[in-house]
Amino acid sequence: MPNPDTRYRRTARLIHWAMAILVLGMIPAGVAMVQPGIERSVQNALFLFHKNVGVVLLLLIVLRALYRWRHPPAPLPGDLPAWQHRAAGVSHVALYALLFLVPIAGYIRVMAGGFPIETLDWLGVPSLVPRSDALAEVAKTVHYFGGIALALLIATHIAAAAYHGIIRRDGVFSRMWPPFAKHGG
Ligand code: HEM
Repeated sequence: MPNPDTRYRRTARLIHWAMAILVLGMIPAGVAMVQPGIERSVQNALFLFHKNVGVVLLLLIVLRALYRWRHPPAPLPGDLPAWQHRAAGVSHVALYALLFLVPIAGYIRVMAGGFPIETLDWLGVPSLVPRSDALAEVAKTVHYFGGIALALLIATHIAAAAYHGIIRRDGVFSRMWPPFAKHGG
């Protein structure tokens, strides 16, 4: 049983699991919607989902980073090998960086390309980037490779979580699970 004081606060866990579900939906949606031969109505629905939920994700990662800054998590267990400590630190920084970079690149790709983001348009939010095909192309490439890197990192992250939860059973997994259990604000 983990020491309850080492667990992430409830708000941090709720944001984590909400983002996990949304990002795991974004990757297959993003891949599927650019496949040649996909039916037009399905493609439109996937684009609508991908762009608008992507903007929500961008807001969530900002919220999450601010919350973490105000409420730093407890240290990992002291008996964890040093290389695993380092690997966790590096991969978490990389996850945060990509969770900022990928949606920002997606936003720039769409806006610079002159396409709509329906909820932002509906809310009257103006584009923050100029219309430019060259910029849209660069952002598209960053979004593509960033998306691949993010998918690989998430796979590693899930493998590490399973290792802690199933093999080591050292309480690290329960620091973030379950999403709703009471602990902190
Ligand atoms: C964490 C958030 C996001 C993830 C993980 C993600 C992931 C992906 C992936 C894997 C693809 C397929 C890449 C390809 O094969 O070309 C893709 C495509 C795309 N994404 Fe995202 N995306 C995210 C956020 C966004 C946002 C916020 C927008 C825009 C508001 C966006 C707009 C697009 C567009 C327009 C494409 C099609 C690329 C093209 O061919 O122009 N994405 N995304």
